[in-house]
Amino acid sequence: MIIVLLGPPGAGKGTQADKLAQRLGMPKIATGDVLRAAVRDGTKRGREAKSYMDRGDLVPDSVILGILQDVMTSPATKKGAILDGAVRTVPQAEGLGVTLAEIGKKVDKVLLFEVDDDELVKRLSTRTVCEGCQTPYMGREPGTVCEKCGGRLVRRKDDEPEAIRNRLEVYRTQTEPVIDWYGKNKMKVLRIDADGPVDEVTARALGALGK
Ligand code: AP5
Repeated sequence: MIIVLLGPPGAGKGTQADKLAQRLGMPKIATGDVLRAAVRDGTKRGREAKSYMDRGDLVPDSVILGILQDVMTSPATKKGAILDGAVRTVPQAEGLGVTLAEIGKKVDKVLLFEVDDDELVKRLSTRTVCEGCQTPYMGREPGTVCEKCGGRLVRRKDDEPEAIRNRLEVYRTQTEPVIDWYGKNKMKVLRIDADGPVDEVTARALGALGK
């Protein structure tokens, strides 16, 4: 099964992708994590992506479609995947569809996590993430230690106020059209109220998936 997670920055896509991956026994593929790893490793892809990411702009579709092509044709996703933030423009949605069709697959479910803007800004401006495993934390100071892997917690550069404002604007103008695109292509978008305790949101998502 291939599940696409949509939602604004800070809606909890990454948090819920981890929970769903664990519950459903499927790998999580987060293009943001793939890109941050490429930036850290100084690869060509990372050098190309860095300035877009720091400003909170979208990385060019060609880069994302290259990543999706690599991961969706790898043995790791043979039985399916949870795609976290991997489809953020209509050309990406179209390109993913083409890549999947070439290997006899399709997107099976689309989940949209919805949270109001005040809550999104609060979450992003107080978030730290583990430099190692990328786990996000609320209300933990930079420099403290990740409970999962012992890595150091840092603030993301794109969680500065100016970049947060830009990311929300980019979401409205470039990613929201993807919701209509799936609807027009006969794919029901399952809307999840993503406000409330993390485990309750997971239960709502699993319910929407019929699990
Ligand atoms: P990416 O890393 O995907 O960032 P994002 O979409 O902006 O999403 P976030 O990671 O900020 O939020 P999230 O929804 O995953 O929430 P999280 O679980 O972390 O992408 C970064 C950049 O990479 C993009 O800006 C772009 O430049 C580039 N990029 C990536 N994919 C791309 C693509 N397909 N096309 C083009 N460019 C691309 O939670 C947020 C915080 O809230 C955390 O602190 C968490 O602990 C907390 N939280 C989570 N759930 C709850 C809850 N229920 N209640 C209270 N707090 C909660």
